[in-house]
Formats: sequence, structure tokens, C-alpha cells
Amino acid sequence: MTYLDFGATSLRKPRQVGEAVRWAMEHCANPGRGGYGAAMEAARVVFDCRERAGKLFDCEPEQVVFTANCTHGLNIAIRSLVQPGDRVVISGFEHNAVTRPLHALGAEWMVAGRKLFDWEDTLSRFEDALKQRPKAAVFTHVSNVFGYILPVEQMAALCRDRGIPFIVDAAQSAGSIPVSLKKLGAEFIAMPGHKGLLGPQGTGLLLCGREGTPLLAGGTGSDSRLQDMPEYLPERLEAGTVNVPGIAGLSAGLDFIKRAGIENIGLREHREAARCAGDLRKLGCKVFSGPHQAGTVSFLPEGDCEEASEALGRRGIALRAGLHCAPLAHESAGTLETGTVRVSFGWNANAQQTRKLLTAVSKQMGQKS
Ligand code: ALA
Repeated sequence: MTYLDFGATSLRKPRQVGEAVRWAMEHCANPGRGGYGAAMEAARVVFDCRERAGKLFDCEPEQVVFTANCTHGLNIAIRSLVQPGDRVVISGFEHNAVTRPLHALGAEWMVAGRKLFDWEDTLSRFEDALKQRPKAAVFTHVSNVFGYILPVEQMAALCRDRGIPFIVDAAQSAGSIPVSLKKLGAEFIAMPGHKGLLGPQGTGLLLCGREGTPLLAGGTGSDSRLQDMPEYLPERLEAGTVNVPGIAGLSAGLDFIKRAGIENIGLREHREAARCAGDLRKLGCKVFSGPHQAGTVSFLPEGDCEEASEALGRRGIALRAGLHCAPLAHESAGTLETGTVRVSFGWNANAQQTRKLLTAVSKQMGQKS
């Protein structure tokens, strides 16, 4: 199988990740809940991962909170900054992981910037929307559907200058594009552990620029006499036993990324996506590509997208079609009715993957005509 669905999860992982998961399952007890060897070993594994993440994302280990996935982190972040009825600015490329929590809270949102691959438009619309004095802003770093890299540094600066707290959704950038909590000055940055960070599913990170409001209350292994959650991070936002085997695997993923270099991984993904976009266009597909594009490309094949992706699946190509849980992004790009077929490359991106995809797409088209 040619796996081109890294936007959904990195099914292909470095060998060390699975080995670390297995090792932790056999050697780690409950971190912070015992002074014996296996409990201390678990605490070490968890702390090592926090430290690695802190180094990679330019923050203190205590500012790294383990979550179950990116959605979990975004829910904590949104609930920490937004109250029912508040107005929030979001980009035109947000995932349901942003809009559904806002909807559930009864927040109002203003969509700023809907043009793909156009930094000037994104920034001027965003700046205009901030003039409405929103309570907060939430924006994705990279669109999960189109791979559009938003100008998050400039958007962050606009928010900071106006004193508007903001959240960055790094679901599709973490592990492929450098992210610095310190430089962005975000209140929160949420990311999954199982995509670009190469960890197992069921892991995620929330980088915290402030303490935040707990979504869950429960045991933390500390301050047990208190009925309130601790005031300090990371315990404040980590109720219950964390996913130690998952965190061990995530730690191995972070180590792999550090050695390989985030920029190198991102460049490899970007180059392959650009080649793939050009080749698909030559075949006659409508392709969504442009400047500021990461390792993800969406295209419209002949006929129905879901049927096309199932047919490609039968030819050994794994990719995702439809709305990708991001109807807002499709609305912005004018593909809400059709959806798209999405190709998303990962750390192992290579020309052979593109060739196989192109052969399968052209056979598919040949069969239809
Ligand atoms: N949000 C993930 C995707 O884009 C699952 O496929």
C-alpha cells in the first residue's frame, strides 16, 4: 500500500516508536503515584517526553500538557479563553475541532480570510476582524484540507499588539514546520501526537502560555488534600493517569524528529506535494496549489471524490476524500458540495509515492473515459 494519508495519522512510523510503546507497557507503572522503581521509571519517561517537547517547541517542560489528541487540547484552550456569547475571530480554514467547541459553548465567530494561499488577503481580513475587539482568536497553522500555511507569526503579532489572546491549532504543522511558543506568544498551541510527531494515536500536546481552566477534575498524584485542581501546570490540566505507553512512543517520535530536523522533514514533504500537484494538473485534474503550501494537496478527480478515493484504495493508494471534518475550509475554497481528494505526505515522502499515485489516477481516468 502507498500510504498518503499523513494528514489523518502517520500510519508509517520509525521502528523505535513501537519499541518504546512496548517497553513502557512492560516496565512502567503509574507516574507520580509511587516511589518504587517501576513508578519512578514511568515518571522519568513522562518527564523526558515533556522535556523533549519543551526543547522542540521552545517552552519550559511544565508548559507542556499531555492530552488525548489535538481536539482535547483545543477544547481545554477554548474553554479557558471563551465564555458563552463571546465573539471570537477564526480563519476561514478551521477544522470542526475548533468550530464545534465554539458552537457548543454558544460563542459567536467571525471568519476572517477565505482566500487560499493568499497571505495578503488573510492578514488584511484578520486585522479588520480584530478591530471588532473579539474576546479571542483561534487559527490553524496549516489547513488540513489544502496544506495552506497561514502567516501565523504575523497573525500572532497582530493579536499581541492589540492584547487579544489567541490559540494556534498546530495539528498539521507540528513535526513539519518549526513552532515556538515563546516567539508566537500564544496563550495555547494544541497539536496531536500521532501525526507529524510520529507518536501513537491517543496522544497530544497542549503548550500553555497560561494556566488554563481544567476540562476534567481528578487525581494528579499531588496536593491530594485539596479538592480544587492544583493551580500550577502541568498537573492543573492533567487529571487522571496519563497515557504512559503512548507518551513513551511520542517521546521516541520527538527524538527521531529532532535528529532528522523539522526543516528537513518539512522540505521533503513540501517538495513532493509540489511535484504531485504539478503532475496531477498535467493529467487534467483541478488541483488546489499555490505558494505557502505544506505537504498536503487537494484535487478534484473526474466524478465523485469519495468514489474516486475508494477506487484508488483498491489500486493500493491510501488517501482521504470528502470534507475532512473541515466544512468551513471547503466553503472557503468553494468545494463544500463536492469535497476533494486529499494527498498528504509525511516524513518518508518520496518520488516513488507520487509516481504510484499518478499511475493509479491515470488508470482510473482511462477506465472512466
Ligand atoms: N483531522 C484529520 C484529517 O485531516 C483526521 O484527516
